Amino acid sequence: MSYGSKRIKQIPPYVFSEIQQKKRKLLGDGMDIIDLGIGDPDLPVDSSILEKLTEAVHDPKNLGYPSYSGCMDLREAIASFYEQRYHVSLDPESEVLILIGSKEGLGHLVPALVDPGEAVLIPDPGYPAYRMAASLANAVPYGMPLSEANDYQPDFQEIPDSIKSKAKLMFLSYPSNPTAATVDLSFFNRCVAFAKKNRCAIAHDAAYQMITFNGYRAPSLLEADGAKEVAVEFGSFSKTFCMTGFRIGYAVGNRDIIRALSICKSNLDTGQFIPIQKAAAFALKHRLGFAEKINAVFEKRMRIMIEGLSSLDISVSPTKGSFYLWAPVPGGYRSMDFTTRLMERSGVVVSPGNAFGDQGEGYFRIALTVSDRRLREAVLRMKKGYRAVVHE
Ligand SMILES: Cc1ncc(COP(=O)(O)O)c(C=O)c1O
Repeated sequence: MSYGSKRIKQIPPYVFSEIQQKKRKLLGDGMDIIDLGIGDPDLPVDSSILEKLTEAVHDPKNLGYPSYSGCMDLREAIASFYEQRYHVSLDPESEVLILIGSKEGLGHLVPALVDPGEAVLIPDPGYPAYRMAASLANAVPYGMPLSEANDYQPDFQEIPDSIKSKAKLMFLSYPSNPTAATVDLSFFNRCVAFAKKNRCAIAHDAAYQMITFNGYRAPSLLEADGAKEVAVEFGSFSKTFCMTGFRIGYAVGNRDIIRALSICKSNLDTGQFIPIQKAAAFALKHRLGFAEKINAVFEKRMRIMIEGLSSLDISVSPTKGSFYLWAPVPGGYRSMDFTTRLMERSGVVVSPGNAFGDQGEGYFRIALTVSDRRLREAVLRMKKGYRAVVHE
């Protein structure tokens, strides 16, 4: 007898865990692995944030159950961050909700807003959690094809009427994981107009909103005209402050959507540990400069890798946001074959593009999450391994 609902049994094996298995095998064989596969920044958390966390842990009143919507000082810090950075005003009581990492909220949002059989519009390629959340809620995921030719922006005209009529939610995410694409406010204005016309909510996943360079500032979806009527935005401390393991994020925007998400969440979880919320509030209020420091690090790595790729005849344009590079697979290989061979020949792990959706086939993603030295080493090894792969 094998346990698992039909829903679970339909889910294909998670590509990233297959890659991790292969990586573990190679590590076991004694190979030195440079992992550019996973978007987990290698940079240390600012020590003052850790001090704040330690201090909060030692206060007994922070050790009980948190409130369902999150600590008010963190919600207020998020509201004033939006006011200062985007001139968007948010009511901390009804328009801000604290999450156990933004992935948790993105996942719970689908059952909160979408009934079985209704459609969820998702970017393809995109962060895999959107499709999974839709499938687990018995909704119909519809991949909006994104390509270099359309600047990795969805073409709303191409969405069939039969899908538009049952679409209840659209996920977007810029700066993008995996493509590193960025947008300007006029794009968000078009998205809001589409959502209003089709009575569909928008969830903008802004996990990389602060990871920008080249003079670019990523807009918030909530800056778009009338966005609060149809949209919420998800933020995360994972990338901005390198706090991936802390599991802390938030949703802001339309109060009905926030309420629906909060009802879903409060019945299933009880919020994040209060000291982590206190540390996050401190980070947002006092350590935004940390993001600027790490952006300089990522920008330098991006340039090192683009130069390295160009010496392999792989052309990638400089990016303006996220810490990923999205590169075409050379030599006519399928993404998975190329990345597996590259890992076996050179010990360099990158992610196959098809892990992010069908439209990702033919690409691979590089996460710039190792030091300059290791990145240069990766380039040297890729040169050797890559030639072996492409010419074999
Ligand atoms: C686009 C995107 N959204 C959300 C997340 C999840 O972030 P969090 O750690 O806040 O759950 C990630 C993590 O890689 C991501 O790439």
